[in-house]
Amino acid sequence: MAKKNEVRYSCYQCGYVSLSPVGRCPKCGEWGSVEQELISSSAQSERARPMSPQKVLGLKPPRRFSSGIGELDRVLGGGMVEGGVVLLGGQPGIGKSTLLLQVCGNLARSGSKVLYVSGEESASQVALRSSRLGADVEGLEIFCHSDVDGALEVLSDHGVLVVDSVQAMKTGEESGWPGTPTQVRAVAQRCIDVAKSRGIPTVLVGHITKEGRIAGPMLLEHMVDTVLLFSGEESSAYRVLRATKNRYGGTDEVGLFQMEGRGLKAVEDPSGLYWNRGDESVPGVAVTVVMEGSRPLVAEVQALAATTVFPYPKRTARGFSLNKLHLLLAVIQKRCGLSTSGLDVYANVAGGLDLRDPGADLALAMALVSSASDRALPSDCCLLGEVGLVGEIRPVGRTPQRLKEAARLGFKTAVVSAREGEELPPDVKVIRVRSLAEAVASVG
Ligand code: TYD
Ligand code: MG
Repeated sequence: MAKKNEVRYSCYQCGYVSLSPVGRCPKCGEWGSVEQELISSSAQSERARPMSPQKVLGLKPPRRFSSGIGELDRVLGGGMVEGGVVLLGGQPGIGKSTLLLQVCGNLARSGSKVLYVSGEESASQVALRSSRLGADVEGLEIFCHSDVDGALEVLSDHGVLVVDSVQAMKTGEESGWPGTPTQVRAVAQRCIDVAKSRGIPTVLVGHITKEGRIAGPMLLEHMVDTVLLFSGEESSAYRVLRATKNRYGGTDEVGLFQMEGRGLKAVEDPSGLYWNRGDESVPGVAVTVVMEGSRPLVAEVQALAATTVFPYPKRTARGFSLNKLHLLLAVIQKRCGLSTSGLDVYANVAGGLDLRDPGADLALAMALVSSASDRALPSDCCLLGEVGLVGEIRPVGRTPQRLKEAARLGFKTAVVSAREGEELPPDVKVIRVRSLAEAVASVG
């Protein structure tokens, strides 16, 4: 049996545990990240409680409900879940508090009692922001204090709990300052215990480190049901919400928001974000339709191939991997007879989109061919296909859905794999190709 108040030292960066104090973590090399923790014997006493198994037959799945924000529901896999705990991470100023106050306002307006706990802002600050967001409604209660025990005490028949942020709160069950690994873990555990035992959906806000990880013990992400990351470029009003872990749904959906004067709004036409609508054809530009979860998005790929005087040409890729760029250049050289060995090649995906969908390969390859040969592709043509090592074009998933989106935005032709199914929507003229060389011959 563990002795009462035994101590150990653990690293909040990588979770390394040591029995003696160390200045630098031997596992991840970080200085000053190993902190003392008290191990109480409560874990032992909890284990001693008799537990009995439950029959799965007749157990009801947890109830789902809408947060009132469609883009958030989409990323959560269809809405918030009774007793589900979400950790929302993101850089300061990205809009975490704004998003959650909007959620609280929506839920309160639909009749729920909601508790928004803020350890970072005063009641008047939260009130000011609520009125700006139109969230100042009857059912919304705020608790502006860093004492999480006090916050959980006032929790009664609330429908949702928001804790902003887990690093700013403190529990009397552990020693240490707010934000230390022991405190962060204990605060999160207290909230999770309450959420699970009373079935209250809970959102914990987490700050992130320079590397983009949620600050605090590694364990934090394992403790919660869902981890969401809110990101965006500083200079832009657009924000992207993604799930990196989701026990109640997939992690492939994205939520797209725009920060406006009165809070976050869903982006009306997301395809416009990643595509410079223009009638002029420019060499080096190719358009594709990628799937971001269940949503088709038109994406524009840009390439620039320019002669270099240096023996080692430069290659850069933004929005997809450098390996893919090298591979496509090799396929172009071998299968289309177009050498790029004396050219610097820069390739970029417009709007900062991260291309994960292999269906974008054909557009990437055609953008490269177009720039290297200085011949523009037709501006009303989109390209869908995965490029294989021998230059073959493979079919992509959900082609009809992608073609419908292309047609909606005014594209007239689409180049697809010859192996695509027979039944494609008649909305655009379809050109079927077996190889990259055939694609170049038909539109290049
Ligand atoms: P905030 O939600 O406080 O970010 P976080 O909680 O992630 O730190 O977002 C703050 C930024 O958003 C701030 O720079 C002001 C801006 N903002 C708007 O542009 N419109 C609004 O309606 C609100 C409330 C904030
Ligand atoms: Mg905040």
